[in-house]
Amino acid sequence: MQVSDPQPAVRASDAVVARIVYASEARIHESVFSEMEGIRASALKHNEPAGVFTALLYQSGWFVQWKEGPGAALLRIMDKVAGDRRHFGLRIVHSSRGPRLLSGPWSMAIVQADETPAEMAQRVAELRHSLDQGIQYAPPAIWRKLSTPMRHPGAHLHGDRDGFHRVMVCSAVGESSFQLVHWLARRHEQEVVHRRFAGATRLDVGTDYVDFAAGGGVLRVIAMARNGLSLPLTQAFIPDYSHLVLLLCGEPERDVQLVQRVADACANIVSPPALVAVAPEAQHHEQPFALAHQLGLVYLKAEANTEHSAESWAVVEPVLAVWRDAATSGAPIDTRLGRGSQFA
Ligand SMILES: Cc1cc2nc3c(=O)[nH]c(=O)nc-3n(C[C@H](O)[C@H](O)[C@H](O)COP(=O)(O)O)c2cc1C
Repeated sequence: MQVSDPQPAVRASDAVVARIVYASEARIHESVFSEMEGIRASALKHNEPAGVFTALLYQSGWFVQWKEGPGAALLRIMDKVAGDRRHFGLRIVHSSRGPRLLSGPWSMAIVQADETPAEMAQRVAELRHSLDQGIQYAPPAIWRKLSTPMRHPGAHLHGDRDGFHRVMVCSAVGESSFQLVHWLARRHEQEVVHRRFAGATRLDVGTDYVDFAAGGGVLRVIAMARNGLSLPLTQAFIPDYSHLVLLLCGEPERDVQLVQRVADACANIVSPPALVAVAPEAQHHEQPFALAHQLGLVYLKAEANTEHSAESWAVVEPVLAVWRDAATSGAPIDTRLGRGSQFA
């Protein structure tokens, strides 16, 4: 079987575990949130002691569940789950053995998408078809293909519709990362997609993204709430980003805290994405840069008023463009390019 995305880019927690992803049709009568809460309580009770980690998505009348853990325990839990009357028509869309990609026992996401269950069913059928053709995608790619498929018309330029450029943005204070995504959406006349996540203890982390044409392809910019960085699901997707854009505020304590959160989120990743840190003044980089350097993260410096989306994007975009051009031409990437940027 060919695995289309064979490099998990995550430091093997050495132990090889079984990994499966399935999709099923939901049959729920209560509110989605309270059903998900109930499933979370069961999962934390049964999965955690057995070393099984899971991420559960509800979207458009479907559940998607990604599970990882020791094979025998995973099978035992799957047997129980398969008989649960809150869903039916379970279809396996991924099954492999490899390192853990989820860093904690529970993550969940509820996506209120403006689509019918039939559209989700179509995407599930496409993945099943790929499997029949001998092509199996890695769990993060499956999750993305099912939950947040690329719909931008420019995506056909990418051989694989999932092969588009992805960047995450986080701000040290306030909501400037979300403002940036909404500004990009207005500028490119694209819609913002909104999602809600929760972890084992932390509830309701918001994340917004927008897709738009950039440099002959499509770029997805994802705003992540600061507390979302600690969710296992967020961390499992970090290797898929080329850059993490940090909108700093100039207060050393807040800015250092953000770099620390990002470093913690990247702790299990072999080659973490480069940080593109935007600060109001050059001297604001001093402490965050020192911490990133100490933690072995690439830290590219840029200066702009981070409260102002257009100004922030004006310094970030050239850094991404240089990377994109090099990535598509196969030339070596000069990470020092971009105004005021520096390699840590
Ligand atoms: C989509 C879905 C996913 C579920 N995932 C899990 C799970 O990962 N672990 C678990 O123990 N129960 C899970 N459940 C619940 C089980 O089917 C079952 O209700 C529960 O384990 C019973 O727990 P109890 O014996 O403590 O009452 C899931 C249910 C559904 C509908």
